Amino acid sequence: MCGIVGFVGKKQASSILVEGLSKLEYRGYDSAGVAIIDNDHINVVKCKGRLKNLENKLSEHPLKGILGIGHTRWATHGKPSDLNAHPHNSQDGTISVVHNGIIENYVQLREWLTSKGYKFVSETDTEVIPQLIEYFYKGDIVEAVMRAISKIKGSYAVGVICSKEPGKLVAVRKDSPLIVGLGKDEYYIASDIPAVLNHTRDIYLLNDNEFVVITKDGVKLLSEDKKEIKKDVYHVTWSANAAEKGGFDHFMMKEIHEQPKAIKDTMTSRIMPGKPITLDDIKITKEQIKNIDKIYIVACGTAYHAGIVGKYVIEKLVRMPVEVDIASEFRYRNPIIDERTLMIIISQSGETADTLAALREAKAHGARVIAVTNVAGSTVSREADDVLYTWAGPEIAVASTKAYTTQLITMYMIALFFAQNRNTLSQEEIEAIKNDMLTLPEKAKQMLEQKEVLQKFASRIYMHKEMFFLGRGIDYAVAMEGSLKVKEVSYIHSEAYAGGELKHGTIALIEDGTVVIALATQTSLYQKMISNIREVTTRGARVLGFTVEGNIDMEKAVDSVLYVPKVNDILLPVLTVIPLQLLAYYIAVQKGCDVDKPRNLAKSVTVE
Ligand code: G6P
Repeated sequence: MCGIVGFVGKKQASSILVEGLSKLEYRGYDSAGVAIIDNDHINVVKCKGRLKNLENKLSEHPLKGILGIGHTRWATHGKPSDLNAHPHNSQDGTISVVHNGIIENYVQLREWLTSKGYKFVSETDTEVIPQLIEYFYKGDIVEAVMRAISKIKGSYAVGVICSKEPGKLVAVRKDSPLIVGLGKDEYYIASDIPAVLNHTRDIYLLNDNEFVVITKDGVKLLSEDKKEIKKDVYHVTWSANAAEKGGFDHFMMKEIHEQPKAIKDTMTSRIMPGKPITLDDIKITKEQIKNIDKIYIVACGTAYHAGIVGKYVIEKLVRMPVEVDIASEFRYRNPIIDERTLMIIISQSGETADTLAALREAKAHGARVIAVTNVAGSTVSREADDVLYTWAGPEIAVASTKAYTTQLITMYMIALFFAQNRNTLSQEEIEAIKNDMLTLPEKAKQMLEQKEVLQKFASRIYMHKEMFFLGRGIDYAVAMEGSLKVKEVSYIHSEAYAGGELKHGTIALIEDGTVVIALATQTSLYQKMISNIREVTTRGARVLGFTVEGNIDMEKAVDSVLYVPKVNDILLPVLTVIPLQLLAYYIAVQKGCDVDKPRNLAKSVTVE
């Protein structure tokens, strides 16, 4: 998946495109490029590596022109290289294209175009698009793009320019995000809103199969059958500063520190003492909640880990069966879904391709879908029946932190809301949990104060090649997230294990000096976890233990202990994960890793 931008206006396009791309690097950053029309000619500058490389190249070969497209790539078809970088031109150089997504039938299209005499220079699937457009071009670029798109299967957000119609930018989307920025006498396309926020707050959110034709005189939206579409302007209210580093060395650290506020914001007006839980944005009725007989929680990556906590919590508080699944697995396993099924989709970006496909699969089978997402106007938010926003603010670091904790808060709110509607908890019980939830922002702040211990521990272990995270029950779910953080940002091989399961094979890996992070926060499982910790310490493991304040006997069982403030056991993941995020961060910094943009990863995965 990749980021695309486009600009039409009176200013020079080059720096505007590069600036837009800098806000989209979270979507991929293994190569970048721009194509700009100058005097009826398309000039392209592109290269492998970070955007900085492109900027350097552009300073050596500046591009003139007021209309252009740009791209930051996360390689799928063809290795990161200068040649595979976008934009891609048609054979005669008159058409240039940027693309985010995957063309599934590109092999057939490539063979067909080759048989017509077209020569390809890259290994990408994308290159078939400009070639197809050139093939269909008979003097009308919009017509040619539409005909080419009708031949393409797969997912795409595409931006196209044509030197024979130098005043036009054409774009279209299907299953990949694309927005249109509406400035004053200047217009933009982009994969995401931050790319245009320095220039405009007025946006069109494109739907699948909608085309946009932009000239200096304005923006025209067209359906696939060329009918003009009228659309409301979406006005962005959040600030562009929210997406800057604000004095921290890395976005990841900034976002870890934003958690107390993000947690508070996500609860605001939904959780209030003495008042019923109000999930303003969801329309599901009491009757519908009563009729549900099964819940699927479906997500990817960190959001999936939040889903696992959701399962523990909903099953405990609502006494309803919950299955949690990885979206890429769920969509292909022919899951049993009907009108009594509720699906909860969790997605920070609201654009993850597999998660979106799972949502559509569930809806096609009659299930009701609640989306938990951080991005207003995202595709997931538009397609779900109900949306519950996490109010974390823009998350830029690839490794998710504040999105996770706010997703947890949302899981608790859904569980309490259902318990309230299905009468599975008394008002007093609900009130007690709510009151504890309201203490979480303050307690999250306390967790941030433990930085020194974690920094020290990180400096002792950062050279290790592997680590283990252990936990039981809901702690196991947090262990998975802690382990993922370490893998993502520090490249240490790390495994999360259920405390009781370790002895069934994995304990063979424990030897003198093996690093183990052991979570023992859950009252009912505490003694069992202590036994599991002893199993690894007797085999030489160095253990950093986590438990709640008061459990001082933990100190005898481990090398170092980190205490978590007391709160209802089910809420502890919100607090326990914070030091785990900090630990991963400090290890990555010690190792000199690129914390915000780890190798091979991308923030928003809009391909299968
Ligand atoms: C990518 C990101 C992860 C994220 C996952 C799901 O892999 O690197 O941090 O958890 O996608 O993303 P979503 O936006 O759907 O939550």
